[in-house]
Amino acid sequence: IALSILRWVGSGLEDVMIDYILGKTKATEVAHLAWKYIVQKGDTVVDATCGNGHDTLALVKLVTADKTQRGRVYSLDVQKFALEKTLALLDESLDKDEKEIVKLVETCHSRMHEVVPKGEPVRVVAFNLGYLPGGDKALITGPKTTLMALESAKDLLTHGGLISVVGYVGHPGGREEFETVREFGSRLPVDEWSCCELRMLNRPLAPVLVFMFKK
Ligand SMILES: C[S@@+](CC[C@H](N)C(=O)[O-])C[C@H]1O[C@@H](n2cnc3c(N)ncnc32)[C@H](O)[C@@H]1O
Repeated sequence: IALSILRWVGSGLEDVMIDYILGKTKATEVAHLAWKYIVQKGDTVVDATCGNGHDTLALVKLVTADKTQRGRVYSLDVQKFALEKTLALLDESLDKDEKEIVKLVETCHSRMHEVVPKGEPVRVVAFNLGYLPGGDKALITGPKTTLMALESAKDLLTHGGLISVVGYVGHPGGREEFETVREFGSRLPVDEWSCCELRMLNRPLAPVLVFMFKK
């Protein structure tokens, strides 16, 4: 327990939470900081919606240690354009060894169990729902495949792992999709899962966070 508290104190999580309460930080920053606490060097993680690559980049930095403990990041998106954007960001931000740990896959996240090798424990599955910023706003995540992806993530996740969802309710269909995520989290058994939601009460269209921690 003492070690966990030390990791928490040293992680900067309290600062980010306070900034979130003060309306000074974005939901995605809160998600990144939660991953920082959960992810260990050498872990396998999944970015279920890699988009412009910012989440993938943050995950690479968390799992990479050295040549022996390199970790693995599976980054999925249905759009070739998004995978190209992610690759471009990785090219300009990472060295060759770091880039090698990322596997970019053009597929729907409902098929993530076909991407991650059987038996490979996954520490974090990150969802950043909605459409690609700067891209085609018609190409959005949807409740049916998001629910299937959450089911896959639930099974792939190791104990001590986290499903992290940043949801958006301001675009058509976004609220319904987010309700699906909430219902999924609400139904998970409390002895095995800890599920929570973070949202701004007086900014009803602000991004909403859901964390599902597998005990
Ligand atoms: C908000 S963006 C993700 C942002 C990204 N994580 C980042 O850091 O830049 C949502 C992404 O989800 C992708 N997407 C939509 N439906 C999907 C699906 N069924 N499976 C995987 N990705 C999907 C979109 O193409 C889009 O790139």
